[in-house]
Amino acid sequence: MKMDADYSRATDGATERRSDGLTVLGLETSCDETAASVVRLSAAGAEVLSSVIHSQIDDHAAYGGVVPEIAARSHVEMIDGVTRRAMSEAGLDWSALDGVAATAGPGLVGGVMVGLSYGKAAALARGLPLIAVNHLEGHAVSARLGAETTYPFLLLLVSGGHCQLLEVRGIGDMSRLGTTIDDAAGEAFDKIAKAMGLGYPGGPALEKLAASGDGSRFELPRALLGRKDCDFSFSGLKTAASRLAQTCETEQDRADLADAVQKVIARQLAERTERAMKDYAEAHEHRLFVVAGGVAANKTIRRTLEDLAAKHGFAFLAPPMAYCTDNAAMIALAGAERLEKGLTSDIDVAARPRWPLDETRASVDPVHKKTGRKGAKA
Ligand code: KG4
Ligand code: ZN
Repeated sequence: MKMDADYSRATDGATERRSDGLTVLGLETSCDETAASVVRLSAAGAEVLSSVIHSQIDDHAAYGGVVPEIAARSHVEMIDGVTRRAMSEAGLDWSALDGVAATAGPGLVGGVMVGLSYGKAAALARGLPLIAVNHLEGHAVSARLGAETTYPFLLLLVSGGHCQLLEVRGIGDMSRLGTTIDDAAGEAFDKIAKAMGLGYPGGPALEKLAASGDGSRFELPRALLGRKDCDFSFSGLKTAASRLAQTCETEQDRADLADAVQKVIARQLAERTERAMKDYAEAHEHRLFVVAGGVAANKTIRRTLEDLAAKHGFAFLAPPMAYCTDNAAMIALAGAERLEKGLTSDIDVAARPRWPLDETRASVDPVHKKTGRKGAKA
């Protein structure tokens, strides 16, 4: 597959690792976290030298969701300080860096432009290569921040903007096996939580409430049951659960509903993943399943997927909790892996609000038609 329209191969080919590895500064500003991190990739694996995250949750809480304009302004205010802190916590001078990686999409484009422009300026000023990173590719490699992981693997990427199953053969070499036809799982968590009067982001709040609930009395819709593919759908659940939320009278009612929602989401994720595992297992001897993205922080979902992996003979890996939700260490690592292959970017590379990981599959099988949903990260 080809996904490198925005990448150019360095004229001298792959970048030689220094004896102590490649050290890359990563920048992440695609949603509501301003983040910077320094990662060293060496023969021993990936080492996070620093990872600084400024969360804007407080700025957006009053609105019940991320407000793009507020996010972009906050990134402008924070990016320099966050980056300086990441450099100082890593204990490195700029001369120790081999490259600057910045998220170039997909995401809220005002925010993406802030991090990407800052990255371009830093790369130009210091004479370093720039690596424009797809945010999803960052999530895809994030499990490698916690454990030395070899390609290929089957990936469930499940976040606020995405819900996809991918075969990951290496950096820049991924095929999509399934995706959501409407909302992402994290988005369903967030919107249902909002309807239940829980704070933003909804996923963690809903998980906390579900701990004291028993959802067995609620019947929630299970989507796409008749289909044999690996696609997801959460909009019917979102509507049904939001309606039920209006009927909840007691705290126990709400806890029960939260438990039902969490279980039905976990079940759908497991059903589609099981289909993908069966196909994947036919073609691969090395069976590794990775779950990444913010929703991978959910303990019920992790446990369900872990059990499923064991049932089908897959090793199971999830990023350390700190690298499940948005962070810049995953961007720095994706950048280092690209740099190692000589995949650097031109200085005029553009920020992209949409940027599918598997562009071939996305163009032959568009789930988001031109007239359809235009979510920030769809
Ligand atoms: O990966 P991420 O930080 O940002 C995106 O790239 O979207 O994911 C954020 C999403 C939010 O929808 C949030 O509600 C969800 O991940 N999330 C969770 C949990 N922690 C974060 N969902 C369910 N349970 C959690 N514990
Ligand atoms: Zn993300």
